[in-house]
Amino acid sequence: MENFVFHNPTRILFGDGMLDSLPGELVPFGRKVLLVYGGGSIKRSGLYDQVTGLLKKADKEVFELTGVMPNPRTEKVYEGIEICRRESVDFILAVGGGSVLDCSKAIAAGTFHPGDFWEDLYLNGQRIDRAVPLGTVLTMPATGSEMNSTTVVSDWENNRKRGYGNVLLFPRFSILEPRLTMTMPREQVVYGAIDMISHVFEQYFSPPDDDNLSDELAEALLRNIRVNLDRSLTDLNDYQARSNLMWDSTMALNGLLRLGKEEDWQSHQIEHALSAWYDIPHGAGLAIVHPNLLYYIRKEAEHKLARYAVRVWEIDPAGKSEEELALAGLKAMRDYFNEIGAPATLGDVGIPAGAIGNLIDSINLFPAGYRSLDRDDVRAILKLSV
Ligand code: NZQ
Ligand code: ZN
Repeated sequence: MENFVFHNPTRILFGDGMLDSLPGELVPFGRKVLLVYGGGSIKRSGLYDQVTGLLKKADKEVFELTGVMPNPRTEKVYEGIEICRRESVDFILAVGGGSVLDCSKAIAAGTFHPGDFWEDLYLNGQRIDRAVPLGTVLTMPATGSEMNSTTVVSDWENNRKRGYGNVLLFPRFSILEPRLTMTMPREQVVYGAIDMISHVFEQYFSPPDDDNLSDELAEALLRNIRVNLDRSLTDLNDYQARSNLMWDSTMALNGLLRLGKEEDWQSHQIEHALSAWYDIPHGAGLAIVHPNLLYYIRKEAEHKLARYAVRVWEIDPAGKSEEELALAGLKAMRDYFNEIGAPATLGDVGIPAGAIGNLIDSINLFPAGYRSLDRDDVRAILKLSV
């Protein structure tokens, strides 16, 4: 295996009833807490009342930042930074999906940063040496943000979506109660699962391909996500399936699968342009882009696509060439995405073919994976997606 360094300090509290641990988890931190949440799902589900009750029990002084939108925008972050500075907030508690978590991380990073958080950190990659500590209560399994140090934010005015990472942004703890995900609409369950699958792909479909545990873990995860997504879509209240999906999401992007791998992330870069222009759900964009990107690079990725077909889809390799297996794996993937109701074309999510030029202009490309893409490649992939 290649050399690596692994460090993940996030404490995970997984399972039914773990929310009750919140007051105990908050003991080491100061009294002033900024509670960050989204557009109202936590109020409808009753989670808001539970969390505020627990914060009261913990004797915390609570400030609120509400209305964090999917694909969180810079203006929400500025709002949160302003509260943290004005009130000298000691701790940020993010309650929601990946967007709420990412917005909270951006606030945590931006509060002590003297310059503009967007320009300096997201666009220019400056390092931070201090951040407000944060914890999370996750309501939607998808991004892995609950156990990683990444945050993704959009500048809607200029149609740019960018990520930022720093070790100080790992949540101090994340509470993962599968029952809190039961209120998710069916399509969000699908988008979340596609995001997880895409995270696994970004790490799995990349060199090196020597024998390594990371690839075997990736295959196990891909099988587990499929089985438990199917069970969840048959019965959205299947606790066993929803709990597996929740842990799948965390495992897909907590750093374990990337060990010894170069990684790719070009599908994510392309998708970020789609949601930066059209505000579509991240998982919906990935369902369109990722299969087409893998089809486009099928020659360079042939050996791995063939292995994927056999190990994940259990396609019988007898009598088949590597190329035939690779194509069978790609077909199985696309058929499955169609079967679960994921979008397949830009038109399915309301993006006109004429938008491709603008999309390409806002993509942040870097060399990666089995084949580094240039703008013409991206154009060809997006044309496959029309
Ligand atoms: O806003 P509320 O009312 O809470 O509703 C949300 C939102 O409308 C709803 N929802 C979440 N949990 C729910 C629920 N509705 C009912 N019951 C529940 N239990 O679902 C909608 C989508 O939520 P959102 O947080 O936007 O989804 P997701 O978790 O997919 O996050 C997407 C964002 O994360 C970024 C994406 O680019 C996108 O901006 N990513 C973050 C990553 C990271 N930090 O590592 C990596 C990813 O690749 C990704 O880029
Ligand atoms: Zn993603």
